[in-house]
Amino acid sequence: MFYICSEKHSDKVRRRRKENAVKMGKMAMESSFMVFVCLIYCVSSSLTQAQVFDVTKYGAKADGSTDMAQAMKTAWTEACASPSPSTILIPRGTFLMSQVSLGGPCKSSMAVQLQGTVKAPADPAQTKGDSWIVIRNINGFKLNGGGTFDGQGKIAWTKNDCHLKKKCTNLPINLRFDFVTNALIQDITTLDSKQFHVNVLGCKNITFQHVTVTAPGDSPNTDGIHIGRSNGVTIVDSIIQTGDDCVSIGDGSQQINITGVTCGPGHGISVGSLGKWKNEEPVVGIFVKNCTITGTMNGVRIKTWPASPAGIATDMHFEDIIMNDVGNPVLIDQEYCPWNQCTDGVPSRVKVSKVSFKNIRGTSSTQVAVQLSCSKALPCEEVELADIDLTFHATNGTATSVCDNIKPVISGTQNPPICSTTSTAQPA
Ligand SMILES: *[C@@H]1O[C@H](CO)[C@@H](O)[C@H](O)[C@H]1NC(C)=O
Ligand SMILES: *[C@@H]1O[C@H](CO)[C@@H](O)[C@H](O)[C@H]1NC(C)=O
Ligand SMILES: *[C@@H]1O[C@H](CO)[C@@H](O)[C@H](O)[C@H]1NC(C)=O
Ligand SMILES: *[C@@H]1O[C@H](CO)[C@@H](O)[C@H](O)[C@H]1NC(C)=O
Repeated sequence: MFYICSEKHSDKVRRRRKENAVKMGKMAMESSFMVFVCLIYCVSSSLTQAQVFDVTKYGAKADGSTDMAQAMKTAWTEACASPSPSTILIPRGTFLMSQVSLGGPCKSSMAVQLQGTVKAPADPAQTKGDSWIVIRNINGFKLNGGGTFDGQGKIAWTKNDCHLKKKCTNLPINLRFDFVTNALIQDITTLDSKQFHVNVLGCKNITFQHVTVTAPGDSPNTDGIHIGRSNGVTIVDSIIQTGDDCVSIGDGSQQINITGVTCGPGHGISVGSLGKWKNEEPVVGIFVKNCTITGTMNGVRIKTWPASPAGIATDMHFEDIIMNDVGNPVLIDQEYCPWNQCTDGVPSRVKVSKVSFKNIRGTSSTQVAVQLSCSKALPCEEVELADIDLTFHATNGTATSVCDNIKPVISGTQNPPICSTTSTAQPA
């Protein structure tokens, strides 16, 4: 009896223990699930809900005349010191802002959301040096919002003396990115810069997407996006209308991808000019693809100065490009010498190699549609042309090509016939 009873008793105890264990397990699971949910929520909200710093809370006024530079700097300083990701908001409206330099390193990633229009002072004398807005030394940066940076360049353009002097007066660049890593610039317009619109220097992994650049076709040196000494720059689905190169790629540029860019007016998409200065770094890995170029002075070109120090430009590819009424649509010019500022007759020592031009079609506004003028000292090597179909639409004649110091590999459509005769004609 006792034995049975004790058996029953121990059964009960065991069952209760088991029930308790299950309950406690459930509770433990529930609470750890809650902790897990909280973790996900907290982490994701800290990732997505950036702290917002609205410049109007720092004294900026959307009246088009109060200088918001100090408000911008203070907002930046506070945002930069914040341990969570920060967004500086410039809301709708028109703001005036004098020169600012916004630097890192910052505690976390930074973003600027520009919804309105920010104008530069029109008088270039009010800006020291060669930049209006500088973003520098920062890892993790975003700029977006659909707004406009207006450089108000009209007065400054009349003071441009680059056609007179090799080292010309510094006029401010709208936007400079100096030593910026992992950045995304999206849905931004830059308008009427006094000089280059955007300058990219010492950057790594920076993308420009849906960027619009607008300046008159006769505004001097208003290059759209200039890249130098940077690795991993992508320009995609953007519209660039300007008075100089739509995109220019300077020394030390590596892994540059330009896709879906609509260019013109302007001077086209250029590698160079290279070989103007000492100690220039190699240009390696340029991919220009699916672009439309309209009414420009040049199409896709590589330009180097004569009498240059030694240099390298290699692995450059231009593919699927439509030319509408473009001067010099395909151009390698190793005697680039605007305004005759160079030593006559001394060849360039920039070595150009591994270049391809593929599927380039449309109309040329100059009779010479393909010009490949390479250096007498260092002929171009491993140049490939395939499916070139360019017509010269004047009544005066058909499109031609000029080839110097080059033996390209040619395939597919060849309009004009390429390098069928060699000539010593000078670049147009
Ligand atoms: C490049 O930068 C973008 C934008 O900040 C970032 O999302 C991406 O992860 C970066 N890529 C690499 C390879 O670091
Ligand atoms: C650029 O494009 C090339 C070829 O399309 C690709 O191999 C490369 O990864 C791209 N580079 C960048 C930085 O996007
Ligand atoms: C080519 O670029 C245009 C923008 O100019 C874009 O709409 C189109 O989708 C691109 N095509 C390809 C195949 O990338
Ligand atoms: C055609 O040739 C004539 C004479 O060489 C020249 O004056 C004229 O500008 C040319 N027209 C075009 C459209 O190139």
